[in-house]
Amino acid sequence: MKVIEKPALMQQACRQVARPLALVATMGALHKGHAALIRHARKIAGPQGTVAVSVFLNPKQFNSAQDLKLYPQPFEADKALCEEAGADVLFHPSVEDIYLSDHSINVEETKLARVLCGVSRPGHFTGVATVVTKIFNIVTPDKVVFGEKDWQQLAIVRRLVSDLNFPIEVIGYPTVRELDYLAMSSRNTRLSSQERAVSPKIYAALQQAAEQVSSGEKKVAVLLAATRASLEVIPGATIDYVEIMNEETLEPISEIAQVSKPRLFVAVKLGETRLIDNISLHAV
Ligand code: PAJ
Repeated sequence: MKVIEKPALMQQACRQVARPLALVATMGALHKGHAALIRHARKIAGPQGTVAVSVFLNPKQFNSAQDLKLYPQPFEADKALCEEAGADVLFHPSVEDIYLSDHSINVEETKLARVLCGVSRPGHFTGVATVVTKIFNIVTPDKVVFGEKDWQQLAIVRRLVSDLNFPIEVIGYPTVRELDYLAMSSRNTRLSSQERAVSPKIYAALQQAAEQVSSGEKKVAVLLAATRASLEVIPGATIDYVEIMNEETLEPISEIAQVSKPRLFVAVKLGETRLIDNISLHAV
């Protein structure tokens, strides 16, 4: 596996690699969820194609200096994980090389980014859309794999690709979970042992709503109230949001049957650590 730091060198290298070129963009502190995305990229690129991974801790998408400071950067371990999962090229640029001191262009999504995490993290998705656009222009991938754990981000990336005419296929990958169903996240290592012990209750609350839908509950208000009630009693938890939306448009709904693909989204702070998760409420 080749490691490239300079954007111009990466751009040049990617012009010469065997296609299809599949990309997984990350901020590092890689875990089994990232590894699954990279392995999937390997599968869709095929043995002849190329898999690129970017590891770039993007300061522009952090709205808390403390959150950025606490973000782990174990680059040697990240490198080993990428190689092990089947990556061919690892792009690891510096902040200075990505953001020139006089840069003045941002990429802003103006609809999907206004709800859910966009409300509690102002500017976050502009930071994401801007860096993703830059990485797409440097790597020029044919296919990109993004995780469904960050569903809103995935929706915004799909819109970015279609609105800005990137010749890229966007592939969503299901959320990878710990054995107790906590969604894997680079931030999970910040949980205290007590917080970690109660954290699976977040997914349990989502599952409970999915089960209610399977048993015939159709009222969004009832499902939201039940989910809130389950989240509120988790020791140390503060709810940021609990919402049920059309998973494609991220518009709120009032009845499950109103759309073909309803989805429940939650963001919860356990102590100082903010965790997000989501589940399909498509009745089976
Ligand atoms: P990061 O949080 O490192 O995530 C990189 C990719 O891994 C994203 O597509 C994310 O959805 C996916 N991912 C993380 N945890 C996952 C899990 N448990 N299961 C499945 N996929 C998971 O998302 C970002 O970085 C950044 O915003 C980025 C897109 C790189 C732009 O800076």
